[in-house]
Amino acid sequence: MKILFVSPEGLPFSKTGGLADVVEALPRSLAAMGHQVVVLLPRYRGNQAARTIISSLSVPLGQKLRFPAIVEAGTFEGVRYCFVDDPQYFDREKLYGDQIGDYSDNPQRFGELSRAAIEFAKQVWMPDVIHCHDWQSALVPVYLRTLYAQDPVMSQVPVVFTVHNLGYPGIFPRTALVLTGLPEDLFHVEMLEYYGKVNFLKGGLIFADYVTTVSRKYAQEIQTPEYGCGLEGVIRSRGDRLVGILNGVDYTAWNPETDANIAATYSSKVMDGKRLCKKDLLAAFQLPSDNMERPLIGIVSRFVDQKGFDLIAEVATELMKEDLALVALGNGEAKYEKLFKELAKKYPKRVGVKVAYDNVIAHKIEAGADMFLMPSRYEPCGLNQIYSLRYGTVPVVRATGGLDDTVEAFDARTGKGTGFKFTEYEGAALMKCVRDALAAFRDLAQWRAIQANGMAKDFSWKASAGEYVKLYEKAKQGRVQRVAASSNV
Ligand code: ADP
Ligand code: GLC
Repeated sequence: MKILFVSPEGLPFSKTGGLADVVEALPRSLAAMGHQVVVLLPRYRGNQAARTIISSLSVPLGQKLRFPAIVEAGTFEGVRYCFVDDPQYFDREKLYGDQIGDYSDNPQRFGELSRAAIEFAKQVWMPDVIHCHDWQSALVPVYLRTLYAQDPVMSQVPVVFTVHNLGYPGIFPRTALVLTGLPEDLFHVEMLEYYGKVNFLKGGLIFADYVTTVSRKYAQEIQTPEYGCGLEGVIRSRGDRLVGILNGVDYTAWNPETDANIAATYSSKVMDGKRLCKKDLLAAFQLPSDNMERPLIGIVSRFVDQKGFDLIAEVATELMKEDLALVALGNGEAKYEKLFKELAKKYPKRVGVKVAYDNVIAHKIEAGADMFLMPSRYEPCGLNQIYSLRYGTVPVVRATGGLDDTVEAFDARTGKGTGFKFTEYEGAALMKCVRDALAAFRDLAQWRAIQANGMAKDFSWKASAGEYVKLYEKAKQGRVQRVAASSNV
């Protein structure tokens, strides 16, 4: 099949979170299966282009016309990468916003990406299916089924829309419709209107042929008021078109047997290297080596509400009464940066923090920590806990979304299970879970068994990529039938 990915970020070019990992690994996996894949991204600052495909593409955005170029970066690992190149929109310091807040022209920026993607399909490379991701490319299905509805070719192209995080819907004032050139009648509660504003993600949910999200559990959760962000009704109405497909991970980048970023490699058979990694990690955070015998908890995260940091704040004093050490890497909201900085100040011998985005340190934490803490309020999939499993770093997680689907609670009676989970979003539940993990850590044989169970798990992309292909085919079939039915009328 010919598959066109449209995404606001993707490695090896741009990343703010797990979406970028997925947009790197899934296309590679599809290419390895023999499919042709093009990934279309915005050309952000520093992204190198190899050649120009279209020097000036006319993109109507409301009353205005913009003229981005379409450039090609090259083919890597079998995947062809192209950029929408509009320096005024994308050559900026950050992807979506700066210290002051989100960029105010985000509707136009990502309206342009979405519309350029459709023109790319028409003029450069006609795919069998378009696969777009999150609110920034949610207008692809909206444009296709409104402005391009009568286009004999484009009306046959199916679109799969993946929600990586419902918590980021892309909500804008009503004027966003005009600014993106969308018909005014979309401002309707059955369409993109959302409490007097315009919700881009809602458009993707309504107009895509299929909607996917990144774990089965999250696909169920977002149909409920607790997790649905006010869109649960719309999501339920698309229930027969909603599929949860668990993300895989890229074991070529995240594997303790080959990882070049860590102090020593190791495997589940020979674990000695993990102790060296712990030593190296403590040194990287300037923590004393007497922590070698203490359980070391690691955190790598965006510091945002989603990840459960208010819960950590609530139990911080109680947590530090336990005989443990903690290292945290992340950046984001000032209140959480402050939380960890203050903890490190209060417990300088046992708590280390780095307020940064640092891939090498992220690898060092995955390898050197004993446990990985991820008490998320919600988690569509989550990748770090899956990396942790492979590194023998036992996940301690809240049983939500992908965390629940990927971590199996350890049962001392059967010896089965890969980590520790709690359900209620409460400090007491988190503390009980951490204490259970600490108790298990004290029993070395038991701990080794939990580590080995996790390290044996396989969350590579192969199975999930296969599920996407089946869905692409179904979407294509459905569109052919739909077009045939409408031409018979
Ligand atoms: P999300 O996409 O919600 O942030 P995921 O667990 O899916 O959560 O993906 C997070 C990705 O970003 C992982 O690859 C993780 O290693 C990386 N990451 C997050 N914060 C940092 C950081 N401060 N430094 C380095 N890598 C980070
Ligand atoms: C989002 C989610 C995360 C998921 C990632 C990739 O950022 O927060 O849970 O793993 O997307 O799908």
